[in-house]
Amino acid sequence: MAGGWRHARHLIVLALVVAAGLGAFLILRGAVVPAGFGKLGHYRAGAIDDNRRRPVSFAGQATCADCHDKQVEARSKGKHRIVSCEACHGPQARHADDPEKLKPVLPDTAILCRRCHEKDPAKPAHFPQVASTDHSGGAACNACHQPHAPKM
Ligand code: HEC
Ligand code: HEC
Ligand code: HEC
Ligand code: HEC
Repeated sequence: MAGGWRHARHLIVLALVVAAGLGAFLILRGAVVPAGFGKLGHYRAGAIDDNRRRPVSFAGQATCADCHDKQVEARSKGKHRIVSCEACHGPQARHADDPEKLKPVLPDTAILCRRCHEKDPAKPAHFPQVASTDHSGGAACNACHQPHAPKM
């Protein structure tokens, strides 16, 4: 019988250790899981409002078109018609809100054009790409190509 009690005591100790571990887990979880977690899904519900409060950086090209119809018109005739204004000009929401106060810096074509068109075997073969040093001999890309309608 004494042997049986010894075995039972092991089980009780084990159960107490598990219960203590579970208690510690719940206390810690309560301390580190932020309020609102799980209310809408596996994330903190308040994160949506936090993100909504961040300033908008991109205006979207429909907004650019309100004032820059010349560039929209030029772009519509070439293959860059599928490239958004802000893909090249960067986020311009603050300029679109107040054009006189914040004038965008024009992109440097030596950096900009290579970002998409530098020859790279990882790119799809049908995508137009050039080894820029051989292709332009150091001349600026916009010496020959119109950025908004680049076909030569
Ligand atoms: C409400 C009208 C308006 C909207 C919307 C607007 N712009 Fe402009 N933008 C202007 C005006 C006006 C200027 C000229 C500012 C100056 O010369 O002082 C200008 C200048 C620029 C320039 C510089 C031109 C230069 O010669 O240096 C760029 C680039 C430009 N805008 C791009 C954009 C893009 C991209 C968008 C869309 C995200 C946009 N603009 C939205 C009115 C607007
Ligand atoms: C493929 C990249 C690219 C796209 C797409 C693009 N731009 Fe440009 N844009 C440029 C570059 C580069 C310049 C500077 C040209 C220069 O320095 O001669 C420029 C110049 C401008 C200027 C100054 C005046 C001019 O025509 O040179 C304005 C305004 C402008 N872009 C607005 C826009 C708007 C609006 C859109 C969308 C309809 C747009 N751009 C799309 C690359 C781009
Ligand atoms: C954000 C990426 C991007 C940037 C930046 C960019 N391009 Fe393009 N370009 C494209 C795409 C997309 C196409 C169309 C590819 C297609 O049709 O398969 C294209 C097409 C072209 C073509 C082929 C035109 C034709 O009608 O066959 C030329 C030339 C070209 N770009 C030159 C330039 C030059 C010069 C610059 C810098 C002013 C530039 N690109 C900047 C994405 C870009
Ligand atoms: C001296 C004039 C000149 C300069 C500078 C120049 N190009 Fe070109 N580019 C051309 C001509 C001409 C063509 C059309 C014939 C051809 O495909 O080689 C062309 C074609 C292209 C094409 C289309 C290639 C294809 O496979 O369809 C791309 C992309 C291009 N250029 C990007 C650039 C970039 C990026 C720069 C700047 C690093 C640049 N170009 C500078 C003259 C020039």
